Amino acid sequence: MALLDILRYPDERLRQVAKPVTEFNAELKQLVKDMAQTMYAAPGIGLAAIQVNVTKRVVVIDVSEEHNQLQVFINPVITAQSGEVSTEEGCLSVPEIYAAVQRAETVTIAAQDINGKAFSTEADALLAVCIQHEIDHLDGKVFVDYLSRLKQNRIRKKLLKEAREAA
Ligand code: NI
Repeated sequence: MALLDILRYPDERLRQVAKPVTEFNAELKQLVKDMAQTMYAAPGIGLAAIQVNVTKRVVVIDVSEEHNQLQVFINPVITAQSGEVSTEEGCLSVPEIYAAVQRAETVTIAAQDINGKAFSTEADALLAVCIQHEIDHLDGKVFVDYLSRLKQNRIRKKLLKEAREAA
């Protein structure tokens, strides 16, 4: 296992659109293991492969309090949604920035598991928000995109300054 480097906003590589996974092989299993380890170490509740610069439609999530209920979504798609909810979101690629984002309250997700088996599940509350946030990553979007231009610029400047200082 290995900890992977997480890309930080406004890194342009976060804008890549991930490609569907077609081979459910050992390489994919290793990627999922490494992503899970990276997410838990951060610590975070969700991670999309794009955030570790892998352009595959792979998401890991664990919204449990004990951090022992890993959920893996390969090629996830939202097939139904209802309601609206505004939640204070954060992102491992946008460290220490939190802002309210409006999303569907309940979603139905169709995805494949690590072995390629198709499944469908309904999610609400934090899991629903998290899966929508992660699927956005697979399409090259980050939650900052939902904020005003002013806020986006402020966040971009802050993170670029921090990156310069860390270099
Ligand atoms: Ni994120």
